[in-house]
Amino acid sequence: MAVTKVALVASMMACMLLTCSYSKSTLTCDQITIWLTPCIAYAVLGGNVSSLCCQGIYSLEAAKKTAEDRRGACQCIKDRAAYIPGIDYDRVNQIPGKCGTKCSYKLYPSTNCSAVQ
Ligand SMILES: *[C@@H]1O[C@H](CO)[C@@H](O)[C@H](O)[C@H]1NC(C)=O
Ligand SMILES: *[C@@H]1O[C@H](CO)[C@@H](O)[C@H](O)[C@H]1NC(C)=O
Repeated sequence: MAVTKVALVASMMACMLLTCSYSKSTLTCDQITIWLTPCIAYAVLGGNVSSLCCQGIYSLEAAKKTAEDRRGACQCIKDRAAYIPGIDYDRVNQIPGKCGTKCSYKLYPSTNCSAVQ
């Protein structure tokens, strides 16, 4: 039993490190919100992108496997961003670049998330 447990934990860790693919997406909007909450300060106030924000961006990047994931993430971020007073979409779109990564689409209130590839 103990051995099985260790093997299970080890394979889960391998999954996290190697970002193994799951057949079904487990990417929820609540999870995305948790990851990206540290980015709100920059999106509203500017200044510097925090390392916590970049970590959230990397987690999201690693979790977005399929076009469906990407569309869902787009819709989630768009919906939640709409509730953030003073959000600056130009800054939002700068965040991936500031973290050294990129996003395949630009996020604006008018972005059609269904068209995200
Ligand atoms: C942003 O980061 C740079 C380099 O770490 C630092 O020199 C600068 O003061 C920071 N700016 C703000 C607004 O925090
Ligand atoms: C959004 O994109 C989808 C897929 O390309 C398309 O079917 C739909 O008509 C678009 N919606 C709007 C409002 O442009």
